Amino acid sequence: MARKILVFDTTLRDGEQVPGAKLNIEQKLIVAKQLERLGVDVIEAGFPASSPGDAKAVKLVAQKVRQPIIAGLARSLQKDIDILWNSIKDAERPRIHVFLAASDIHIEKKLRMDRERALEMAVEAVKYAKKYCSEIEFSPEDATRADFDYLCRVVEETIKAGATVVNIPDTVGYAIPEEFGELIRRLRERVPATDNIILSVHCHNDLGLATANSIAAIRNGANQIECTINGIGERAGNAALEEVVMILKTRSHHFNVETGIVTPEIISTSRLVSRMMNLPIQPNKAIVGANAFAHSSGIHQDGILKDRRTYEIIRPEDVGAQEHLLVLTARSGRKAVKQKLIELGYELPNDMFEQIYRRFLAVADRKKEITAEDLKSIVEVELTKVPEVFGFVKMVVTTQAMSGNDLPLAILTLRKNGDEITQASVGNGPVDAVFKCIDRITGLVINLLDYTVEAVTSGTEALGEARVKIEVNGEVVSGRATSPDVIEASARAYLNAINRYFTLRK
Ligand code: KIV
Ligand code: ZN
Repeated sequence: MARKILVFDTTLRDGEQVPGAKLNIEQKLIVAKQLERLGVDVIEAGFPASSPGDAKAVKLVAQKVRQPIIAGLARSLQKDIDILWNSIKDAERPRIHVFLAASDIHIEKKLRMDRERALEMAVEAVKYAKKYCSEIEFSPEDATRADFDYLCRVVEETIKAGATVVNIPDTVGYAIPEEFGELIRRLRERVPATDNIILSVHCHNDLGLATANSIAAIRNGANQIECTINGIGERAGNAALEEVVMILKTRSHHFNVETGIVTPEIISTSRLVSRMMNLPIQPNKAIVGANAFAHSSGIHQDGILKDRRTYEIIRPEDVGAQEHLLVLTARSGRKAVKQKLIELGYELPNDMFEQIYRRFLAVADRKKEITAEDLKSIVEVELTKVPEVFGFVKMVVTTQAMSGNDLPLAILTLRKNGDEITQASVGNGPVDAVFKCIDRITGLVINLLDYTVEAVTSGTEALGEARVKIEVNGEVVSGRATSPDVIEASARAYLNAINRYFTLRK
């Protein structure tokens, strides 16, 4: 019988440590719900002691996402564990994850203590956490650079103290596959109590080996892998969930293990995380990149037409790559749209559905075919909208010749408290001209830090999704919006960020 490998997703904790990828509470819940649909066994929802906002977001995930285990991270400190427990105690199945450095360089230089004190602290933390919760995970940080005998003592003592999961992190991505596999094998041999707990691994990708190291660990007896969607995470990231899972599935005869991942949800999850966290996916990324199932050479295309297996080792539908199919048009009624949303996992209250339906009609009027990806993008934008201080009304952007000075001219109207305000401006490009109009109307001094626009699906009629990051009076805020017209999407995203700034200030 195939051995079960548990999938522990840390997109919302290690993944969220990527600069600029912080999610707000609603966004975190949307991603967590999608991870539930994907079938992960554990969601590490955050690090509650790191900020009150994160504590609140983890609490909401624990209350609303019932299928997977909900874990949160804490340092080996009572105050961290108290805050963490308050955030996850409502979960159907809560797990406290505590960590403490195990390598000499971390113990001496970072913690400024000795091995014995560090071991004592780890044991005390596990015992303290155990008073709250039966499922305790302990991670000896930087395990792959730790002294092996000491690591074995830490693992043995934390299991005795009540840890039900021990996670071996390759914190700095230093390990290589043979060596890491060997470490797991020797650890299991030297600490027989590891047979009675879940032995987990958490690999970073500094040398591009996170996936290979995770696989080597599984071969040597690890039964939980910690990973993130699209491999995002601290520095070069973590092992990519989609890669580890699809290796195990594609080569199932070789490994004789299985996961509970609903693989057709992989691409949707990948796109959602990329959009929400503002982290584009490289086109040649394994499994989820835009080119992962695109065949450009004539010889390859010929082979694919004769039999897809000539050049495809994974069926696109097995990872959900058929999602781009046509689903709806402007003639689709409420019932059809509601049904499609339910199929995509969105059961919405009536007022929220009406808001989404109105936006769907506005987009469908201009873009003939609305795909599942389009619809999801519309929903995500609407669900994360903030109260409107300035609302978009209309805009016109003229060509260079008409502005009379070789620069594009924008004329834009916004709504504020029921009044319409119009401004005109030239700019170095149409988007620059539009942003200048918005700056004039709002009267804010805005520093544009980041701006991207990409197509939600392919083709000239694709829905454009714009994302901006701006700085206003020292606050950094992000915004996003979709429209069949990329300049309008950009204006709406810029306004979304401005409205978010006003919400934050309140
Ligand atoms: O990389 C690491 O060591 C971690 C631990 C907190 C598990 O993220
Ligand atoms: Zn990590």
